[in-house]
Amino acid sequence: MQTDLRNRDLIGDLDFSKEEVETVMDVAFDLKRKRALGESHAYLRDKVLAMLFFFSSTRTRGSFEAGMAQLGGHAAFIESKTTQIAHGDTPKEIGEIFGRYFDGIAIRHVDWGVGNGYLNAVAKASRVPILNMQCDIYHPFQCLADLMTIIEKKGRDLRRKKMVVSWAYAASYQKPMSVPQSLVLQMPRFGMDVVLAHPPEFKLMPDIMEQAQEQARKFGTGFEVVDDMEAAFKDADIVYAKSWGAMVHTPDPEEGAKIIKKYEHWITDERKLALAKPDAIYMHPLPADRNIEVTDGVMDGPHSVVYDEAENRMHAQKGVMALTMR
Ligand code: CP
Repeated sequence: MQTDLRNRDLIGDLDFSKEEVETVMDVAFDLKRKRALGESHAYLRDKVLAMLFFFSSTRTRGSFEAGMAQLGGHAAFIESKTTQIAHGDTPKEIGEIFGRYFDGIAIRHVDWGVGNGYLNAVAKASRVPILNMQCDIYHPFQCLADLMTIIEKKGRDLRRKKMVVSWAYAASYQKPMSVPQSLVLQMPRFGMDVVLAHPPEFKLMPDIMEQAQEQARKFGTGFEVVDDMEAAFKDADIVYAKSWGAMVHTPDPEEGAKIIKKYEHWITDERKLALAKPDAIYMHPLPADRNIEVTDGVMDGPHSVVYDEAENRMHAQKGVMALTMR
């Protein structure tokens, strides 16, 4: 068990080794149990987390804030637009200055081609851990909550479980591709055979795909890419279907929005989900475009684990904060 995670950043999913992620899972399950029993677990008394948001959030803000309070500390909610960042505060200054006020700096910055660079620039100047609340490339805390949920539903031995990570149609906006990228990087390390399904214009970043294939080779799991949602769903144990934008294909959001419209039929509905195994689980990080991206029947149906998944954000994040910010 690798336990020395003090002062470590979590920006990309592979920043923590597989053994370190296993430690996070153990701690997260213990904290979930402690909360259920009303046992105090104030491991971060007097510690303060900065939560710097460049983009809106429901679950991430709520779960980090509640999690810090339950650990005996405090989380400060800071919206970038209420800071002096637009008037010149550089990432180096944020890292240096917030690193002196706070015991950890969590950042959400999903702007394509900008977010991850910003987090790394702050990390370079910071003396405290940088926690990625989602950037343009990764959403590591969502992925840890997803892994925790899969373990709860399918057990610790996930070898040969078929996990489908599928693109889905959405009309609202070009969503970041950080969730599918985190999933294809992390899940092969835990034995799952990953099938990635998307229309041709919705490829993930080539560098991420290479790293995902390398993880699959290293851990002896399957990794397949298909362009047919229904074929992908067949006999799946885990169906994780969500929308993302065509940013790798085109940086032009208007062109991306036009391309998305070609694939309205990529909705997760009861008929498609019936192609998966009878005990398959349906996952989505939320928010979803209901009855566009996924039907109410699936989202609220017996296969859906979306509320457990959202709850586990808090337990997984508490695990990482307790280990890194002590
Ligand atoms: N899944 C997720 O990150 O949700 P929020 O955007 O509401 O934080």
